[in-house]
Amino acid sequence: MLTHAENELMCRVGPGAGMGAAMRRYWLPALASSELPEPAGDPVHVELLGEHFVAFRDSEGRVGLLDEACCHRGASLLLGRVEGCGLRCIYHGWKFAVDGKVLETPNVPDGKFKDRIRARAYPVRESGGLIWTYLGPAELEPAFPEWPWMALPDAHRINAMALVPCNYVQILEGLVDSSHLSVLHITPLSGAGNSELHFARKTEHMAFDAAPRIEAELTDFGFHYVALRDIKGPEGSRVEARVASFIAPCFIANPNGDLFFAVVPVNDEVSRFYHVWWDAERKIGEEPLRSQQLKFVGLDDEALARHGLTEETTLGPLRPSRENRWHQSRELVRKGHFTGIYSFTQEDVAVCVSGGTIRDRSKEMLSIADHAIGRLYRVLLATAKRVAEGGEPVGLKADTRGIRGANGTLAPGQNWHTLVPSHQAPRGLHSSDSAA
Ligand code: FES
Ligand SMILES: [Fe+2]
Repeated sequence: MLTHAENELMCRVGPGAGMGAAMRRYWLPALASSELPEPAGDPVHVELLGEHFVAFRDSEGRVGLLDEACCHRGASLLLGRVEGCGLRCIYHGWKFAVDGKVLETPNVPDGKFKDRIRARAYPVRESGGLIWTYLGPAELEPAFPEWPWMALPDAHRINAMALVPCNYVQILEGLVDSSHLSVLHITPLSGAGNSELHFARKTEHMAFDAAPRIEAELTDFGFHYVALRDIKGPEGSRVEARVASFIAPCFIANPNGDLFFAVVPVNDEVSRFYHVWWDAERKIGEEPLRSQQLKFVGLDDEALARHGLTEETTLGPLRPSRENRWHQSRELVRKGHFTGIYSFTQEDVAVCVSGGTIRDRSKEMLSIADHAIGRLYRVLLATAKRVAEGGEPVGLKADTRGIRGANGTLAPGQNWHTLVPSHQAPRGLHSSDSAA
């Protein structure tokens, strides 16, 4: 349970908001590489943390992220033309390089004028199928995070993104909430036994225990938590452990061990829900594996569009809402489907969005099953407060290369920490902040 003020602090991410200042201290995905597919293609609009930008890829393939409003007199650079190594504003023809250097000001007779000014541009890195940026103060720019999947070629990775009309915390909550899996997702999970998909096989045992034991602990990157399930089988009983990691401010390493999530606020009420799967051996980014995986979880282009989860569909009648009952079919429920909702992604979206765009947490009743949810609130609030007090954001210096999600059968007496050997205990203030 959180007070109204705590909830506001945790959820609001615009310029000037507490969590907004904290979020701006990290590298964040701004868009997918696939949204800027070719050199010198059309510029695209990017909304991130409630601010508007334009992204473009110049003729050399470099990506630039500039304020959407032209630094001359504010026309939208979304109208601009990518010409060679720059983006030209169509109002007076000023032309900008990806780093904000002003290349031409054709309506100004003084040829040196352009050397005295600069457009606001943000640092950009393209890695792992995502275009990352840092919006914070230049002097505080942190090292670029290296995730294990970034080193793999595109063919060994699947990137997907759903645009979800609710606050980012609501999506993160679902990702650190192991106990919903065997309820909300019981229908797609119980069909998983027949599937050849790795993802399906990794989750099928969860259908047999709806009340796992949850343990959560702070780490130097945020926190990790384990769901322990006692599974009774013909050979006796065993304990299955699934460890998820929350990496501040908005990243999750899923217990499957090959799935990374970034839940990035577009603004306070809309979030980009990025998924990255990777496999060092198999070319999962190629067909038919790619489409099979995306279809299984409801993230294929057709399913996303049909449920209003894309840029093109989110503003129309397909946007998940009370009016369309968040895409629930009561007929399917009557036929025995537990939720009557299409697949994993749409089930998650329905429960996240139906709680309200920014959920009121002052009346919720957290239970022992929600241990990790409480941790999530505490780490996010600690991050916002520390940044407001001039301290260092949680997890900024953690070595991302060793952070993982993991799962496995525990041998008798085996501690679940052995599944995540490189995770470190928190340093400094983080532990006392978060215990508050
Ligand atoms: S407003 Fe862009 S060049 Fe004048
Ligand atoms: Fe879920």
